[in-house]
Amino acid sequence: MQASGFLGGRNPAWAPRVQSPSALNQLGPPKPTIRFRRPPISAVATKAPPPPPRRRTHSMPSEKVEVFKSLEGWASECVLPMLKPVGQCWQPIEFLPDPKAPTEEFMDQVRELRDRTAELPDEYFVVLVGDMITEDALPTYQTMINTLDGVKDETGASTSPWAKWTRAWTAEENRHGDLLRTYLYLSGRVDMLMIERTVQYLIGAGMDPGTENNPYLGFVYTSFQERATFVSHGNTARMAKEGGDPVLARLCGTIAADEKRHENAYATIVEKLLQVDPSGAMLAIADMMRKKITMPAHLMYDGRDPKLFDHFSAVAQRLGVYTADDYADILEFLIGRWRLEKLDGLTAEARAAQDFVCGLAPRIRKLQERADERARKMEQLSVKFSWIFNKEVVL
Ligand SMILES: [Fe+2]
Ligand SMILES: [Fe+2]
Repeated sequence: MQASGFLGGRNPAWAPRVQSPSALNQLGPPKPTIRFRRPPISAVATKAPPPPPRRRTHSMPSEKVEVFKSLEGWASECVLPMLKPVGQCWQPIEFLPDPKAPTEEFMDQVRELRDRTAELPDEYFVVLVGDMITEDALPTYQTMINTLDGVKDETGASTSPWAKWTRAWTAEENRHGDLLRTYLYLSGRVDMLMIERTVQYLIGAGMDPGTENNPYLGFVYTSFQERATFVSHGNTARMAKEGGDPVLARLCGTIAADEKRHENAYATIVEKLLQVDPSGAMLAIADMMRKKITMPAHLMYDGRDPKLFDHFSAVAQRLGVYTADDYADILEFLIGRWRLEKLDGLTAEARAAQDFVCGLAPRIRKLQERADERARKMEQLSVKFSWIFNKEVVL
């Protein structure tokens, strides 16, 4: 992980700092559309981001539904055990002031929380709020998984292991947003009204990861995305520790550990698909990488800033919470995890896809270096974030 020190900030990298050339857009990482010398946000139009373009749907050939049917026994045996029994799971209340304590004691605990967060800088809260909002749009992610042919929850309480996984995964994830939201609320450092509006806009807007109802694409996406959240929460944990809040550090670290376990489950599913259908799975990985892995909250909006997601991503990039380097790292990690370089028995088309994917990370890094170079020569831009009472933060 190449994340920055807390306040120093790593060299602001390619994605958010520059107007990205088209080659970058084809390759992937956190997508930036920020131009320099823009008017301040308060002066620009406040239209919501445009809806995503129409995508292909139901791209998995219908006979491949059988692949997922035939893997149900395997999923019960090898995927479901990666969930934790509810009684062994942590719950948000374990990290929060104890409401059953006597009032004065409870108030002391709240005071301590506020003291601990007092020294954390505003820019840290921009990133933590963005992460919290991303978690809070969980209904969208469960909906997305239930668009996937062959693994969707057909009844809402289906006994298929795929459906059981999705419901229990959602239930585990649900604790993440709850915990971050309550902690942020008690800190007093953020504008909860604007945060709540952003969540409502975001759930209303949905997401478009380009998974085409296709579980091959869907599980590649979730493998990548769970690792991205693991990286991001791990970095906010480290920064909280450096900034003087060990409880917030433990809380973010605990969420990161969940994400890691989820990543492992989704990556195990893709690994299985690579065994039973190597060419199909290889093509799916290349397809998702060509499209880029879109962050789940890419349609976020607070009613004011139409480029809110880009601005949030730019701060995350500058602080080193989630960067273009992380994107390349995740790709390389998954290539190794899935042993893609050694994969054989592929069709000619899948071999081409293998070459593309296995050569992609160095290309991303190279483009990143060039963009860094250009960014160094450009003027810095600051933006006001409604989430922190319209205070300005450097992108
Ligand atoms: Fe999460
Ligand atoms: Fe997650």
